[in-house]
Amino acid sequence: MAYYCSCKPSLLFLLFLISATAQARDTVTTHLHFFFHEEYSGPNATVITVVNSTTSNPGGFGSIAVADNDLREGSSLDSKLIGRAQGIAPVVSQSGQMTWLGLFNFVFTEGEYNGSSLTVVGLATLEAVTERSIIGGTGKFRMARGYAIHTLLSGVPEGRFIVEFDAYVEH
Ligand SMILES: *[C@@H]1O[C@H](CO)[C@@H](O)[C@H](O)[C@H]1NC(C)=O
Ligand SMILES: *[C@@H]1O[C@H](CO)[C@@H](O)[C@H](O)[C@H]1NC(C)=O
Ligand SMILES: *[C@@H]1O[C@H](CO)[C@@H](O)[C@H](O)[C@H]1NC(C)=O
Repeated sequence: MAYYCSCKPSLLFLLFLISATAQARDTVTTHLHFFFHEEYSGPNATVITVVNSTTSNPGGFGSIAVADNDLREGSSLDSKLIGRAQGIAPVVSQSGQMTWLGLFNFVFTEGEYNGSSLTVVGLATLEAVTERSIIGGTGKFRMARGYAIHTLLSGVPEGRFIVEFDAYVEH
């Protein structure tokens, strides 16, 4: 190893610098605005509980849900479908409040980002406004980092969660 290190590191370091600056120059921040539609009851439910809590905790600590939700352009039920939010959400709090850790792949199926996806991770609660991390992506969102503000809408049809998403993504 030692005889390699004496001649190569400067070249390797230079290559690293070149690729690091090229990447920094290409980074853009994209603001995405869309709506997450989850139907949690009835025959067309988009989320199912696959593991029930083994405790009597009122928040359902330990239960696990799997979701295949709609991403839509707007908040109305017939608004244009633009993607899917697929993932799992265990209840991770013993507080007695419903607090899920959402682990989601948001994949877009329309427009400029058709086929590209974001990995969105973080706590979801019944509070009106919360925030989650964007920890990665694919396609046009490769190397993504960012955050998403989600606002739970009130006054929606029974058996649904409709959430407004404002996502800010560096990629
Ligand atoms: C379930 O989906 C079907 C097909 O889209 C629809 O006809 C039906 O009205 C839906 N049922 C409910 C309860 O929303
Ligand atoms: C969880 O509990 C509900 C209500 O008791 C029941 O309907 C459902 O089948 C259970 N699900 C699993 C995966 O055990
Ligand atoms: C999105 O991409 C898929 C796969 O490439 C393609 O089949 C589909 O037609 C595209 N949808 C739109 C709306 O461009």
